[in-house]
Amino acid sequence: MRLVVTGTDTGVGKTVFSAALTDAQNACYWKPVQSGLEGETDSEAVSRLGGIPADRILPEAWRLTAPASPHLSAAIDGVRLDPAALQPPDTEQPLVIEGAGGLLVPLTRGVVFADVFARWKFPVILCARTALGTINHTLLSLEAMRSRRIPILGVAFVGESHADTENVIVEIGKVRRLGRLPHLDVLTPERLRRAFRDNFDLSVLHEGSRQ
Ligand SMILES: Nc1ncnc2c1ncn2[C@@H]1O[C@H](COP(=O)(O)OP(=O)(O)OP(=O)(O)O)[C@@H](O)[C@H]1O
Ligand SMILES: [Mg+2]
Repeated sequence: MRLVVTGTDTGVGKTVFSAALTDAQNACYWKPVQSGLEGETDSEAVSRLGGIPADRILPEAWRLTAPASPHLSAAIDGVRLDPAALQPPDTEQPLVIEGAGGLLVPLTRGVVFADVFARWKFPVILCARTALGTINHTLLSLEAMRSRRIPILGVAFVGESHADTENVIVEIGKVRRLGRLPHLDVLTPERLRRAFRDNFDLSVLHEGSRQ
C-alpha cells in the first residue's frame, strides 16, 4: 500500500498526520523533496513524533537548502530536479509519501507536485485545517486532483472541531472524511498515537479509493 499525504497549504499538519499514519500502519515514510535543512526536517519530525525507527524513514530524493518552493530552492542550490525520474523507493512495507506544501507547488517551472501524483496514481489523503478559509482551499484542492484523475482517499482534518465546516466540505466536495486530528498541546508519540487511534477509522485505508 502506497499513500500520498498532501495538504491544502504548507504548515497544515501533514508531517504530524504522516507521523501518526506511518506509526499506525507500521509503514515506511518518504519525503521526496525536502526544502529547508535548517532545524528539523520532516523526516526527522516523523521519526520523533511517530517514534519511527530510522530504517523506516527512507532517504529523500532531493535535499535542498532553502526553505522555499522546490523549484526555487533547487535553483538556489544549482540542482536540476527531474520530476519524471521521481519514483518511490522499493519497499515491501506500506509507504507513506509526504509532498511539499500543497498540490500545485512547483518542482520545476513546468511541473507541479500534482502532476507527479497523477503519474503515480497512488491514493491521496488531503490534510486540511478546520480553521477559517479551509472550505475554499479544500474544495480547490479536490478540484485540482479530480481534473488530473488523482485517486482521492479522503480528507484528514487537523485542528479544533468545526462540524459545519467539515460537513460542508464533505457535501460540496463529495469526499470522504477520514477523521480529525485535534490540536494537541503536547505532541508526544503516545499522545499522537492515541489521538489518531481515537479519531481515525483505518479500515477505509484498505478499501481502495473513491473519486
Ligand atoms: N494536531 C496538532 N497538534 C499540535 N500541533 C500541531 C498539530 N498538527 C500540526 N501541528 C504543528 O503545526 C506546525 C505545522 O505542522 P506540520 O509540520 O505537520 O505541517 P506540514 O503541513 O507538514 O508543513 P510543510 O508544508 O512544511 O511540510 C508544526 O509546528 C506542528 O508541530
Ligand atoms: Mg511537512
